[in-house]
Amino acid sequence: MEWKGVINTYRKYLPVTDKTPVITLHEGNTPLVKADNLSEELGGNLQIYLKYEGMNPTGSFKDRGMTLAVSKALEEGSKAVMCASTGNTSASAAAYSAKAKIDSIVLIPKGAIALGKLSQALIHGAKVVPIQGNFDDALKLVKTITSKYPITLVNSLNPYRIQGQKTGSFEICDVMGKAPDYHAIPVGNAGNITAYWRGYKEYKNHGIIDSLPKMIGFQAAGACPIVKGCIVDKPDTVATAIKIGNPASWKQAEMARDESGGLIDSVKDDEILEAYKMLAELEGVFVEPASAASIAGVKKLNEKGYFKKDDCIVCILTGHGLKDPDRAIEMIEEPESIPATEDAVVKHLRLDEG
Ligand code: F0G
Repeated sequence: MEWKGVINTYRKYLPVTDKTPVITLHEGNTPLVKADNLSEELGGNLQIYLKYEGMNPTGSFKDRGMTLAVSKALEEGSKAVMCASTGNTSASAAAYSAKAKIDSIVLIPKGAIALGKLSQALIHGAKVVPIQGNFDDALKLVKTITSKYPITLVNSLNPYRIQGQKTGSFEICDVMGKAPDYHAIPVGNAGNITAYWRGYKEYKNHGIIDSLPKMIGFQAAGACPIVKGCIVDKPDTVATAIKIGNPASWKQAEMARDESGGLIDSVKDDEILEAYKMLAELEGVFVEPASAASIAGVKKLNEKGYFKKDDCIVCILTGHGLKDPDRAIEMIEEPESIPATEDAVVKHLRLDEG
């Protein structure tokens, strides 16, 4: 059967009626890939699955929430949406607003978002406003402005974003027939960990699953306010998507952690980049650096003996690697060119040496 996006598929669990216009790019239904090569590399004691959210229409998990946020904005008669963003939210807001024929305005930290994401926001026709500040400054401004002007805020403070994003849990449970033992996820503004926890709890309340996963979230070491227990004024990490010092859903993330018996930990930039490369080399899955935080975190915890044998872990890979190709090319030197002759190629590859 044709997949028609998360609203049409999970309508009965979402705050929509027959009158709600459905603005969809057929988001969701992303692959859940069993990562045997990676599991083996990490010691062979775990069953690791990758939820490849980079396969959403704009290349990140944000589309699950944006389909609902923009549909509801339209239903409520809004003519414009606005967000602060480290890149992916702006790309998604721009695309869904284009489809809905409403305006989008995005505030981004100047010079601090990956080029692929900026290109998306621009080509979809968003009004892009780079500010001389970081994401936290941008979010504060967006909250103030949307409270004073008739513009709908579509950051994850918008409850419809969380409602839409909870469908990721539904898909995991529908495919596996149960919840995993652990749910590993990068944490930035903390909306996604909040949404997934909500989704699992709802499926359990409906009797669709018997048990809940432990939620394990990972922040970058240079931007880990929840781990430290205080706001980070100058967050810093290669994982620009999660370069956030004062997450909007801080309390809800702590609740997900505590209710589930999980944890929120930090991973260093070099651990994130190692995991980033490992995923691409071992699993054929290309993600952006922030997404690799979930793998780096699982690796770190496994080395400390945190898991039991054969524990089943789903890692959320939040965004596509093509968003930020410069990072990959920086890590692996771009090869030099050679003459366009058979002889040169054979010699270069040393095929003539037997
Ligand atoms: N991974 C990616 C690729 C992201 O873009 C984000 C957040 C996260 C993880 C963290 O998710 O904020 O729900 O905890 N990106 C936002 C943005 C902040 O503006 O695109 P979170």
